[in-house]
Amino acid sequence: MALIDEAADPFALFETWFQEAEASEINDPNAMTVASVDREGLPDARILLLKGWSRDGFVFYTNLTSEKGVQLLEQRKAALLFHWKSQRRQVRLRGPVEQVSDEVADTYFATRPRQSQLGAWASDQSSPLADRETFEAQLAKFEAQFDGKNVPRPPHWSGLCLMPSFMEFWQDREFRLHDRVRFSQSPAGWSGQRLYP
Ligand SMILES: Cc1cc2nc3c(=O)[nH]c(=O)nc-3n(C[C@H](O)[C@H](O)[C@H](O)COP(=O)(O)O)c2cc1C
Repeated sequence: MALIDEAADPFALFETWFQEAEASEINDPNAMTVASVDREGLPDARILLLKGWSRDGFVFYTNLTSEKGVQLLEQRKAALLFHWKSQRRQVRLRGPVEQVSDEVADTYFATRPRQSQLGAWASDQSSPLADRETFEAQLAKFEAQFDGKNVPRPPHWSGLCLMPSFMEFWQDREFRLHDRVRFSQSPAGWSGQRLYP
C-alpha cells in the first residue's frame, strides 16, 4: 500500500477513496458521521448520507427543525467523518456549513421515492412521538393531501453543505504504524501535512 501523497489534490484523493469504498463496502459507502455542537457547546453526532459533493462542498439532506438542523443552522459549523471499514480508511472534514439553495434542494427532493417524500412531511424529526400509530396517521394524512399530485418539498426539509477547511486522510498500516495526512486550505490553495498517526 502506497503512502498518502502530501502533494495530492485532496478532492481527487477523496474521489479515489470514495470510488474504492463504493466498490468494497457492503452497504452505504456514503454514510458518514455528522458532528455538530449545541448552543451550550455540547457535541452531538449521528450518521447521515452524503448526497453530493464537489470542490464547493459536501451536501446532505435533513429536517431543518431536527436537533441537528437547529444545531447546524445556529452554529454554522460541523465535522464529517467517513470510516470505510473494508478499506481500513478514515476521512475527516471540518468547516463551515450553509443551507443549499431552494433550487438545489427541490431538484434532489424530486428524485426521492414518493414514500420518502411523504415521510419528510410526516416526520417531525427529533420531536417526541406518542406511538407509531400517530406517525402512520400523519403519513396517511399527507398521502391523502397529495393524492394524485406531485409531493412538493416541505419548507422544513433541505440540504446543508459543509465547505471543508480541513480534509484529513488516514490509512491503516501494519502494527498500528498508520499513515495520516491533513490538508488545509489557505489563500494559496490546499497543502498537505503528514502527522504522527
Ligand atoms: C445509515 C444511516 C443513514 C441515515 N441518513 C440520514 C439522512 O441522510 N438524513 C437524516 O436526516 N437522517 C439520517 N439518518 C438518521 C440520523 O442518524 C438521525 O437519527 C436523525 O437524522 C435524527 O438526528 P438528530 O436528532 O440529531 O437531528 C440516517 C441514519 C443511518 C443509520
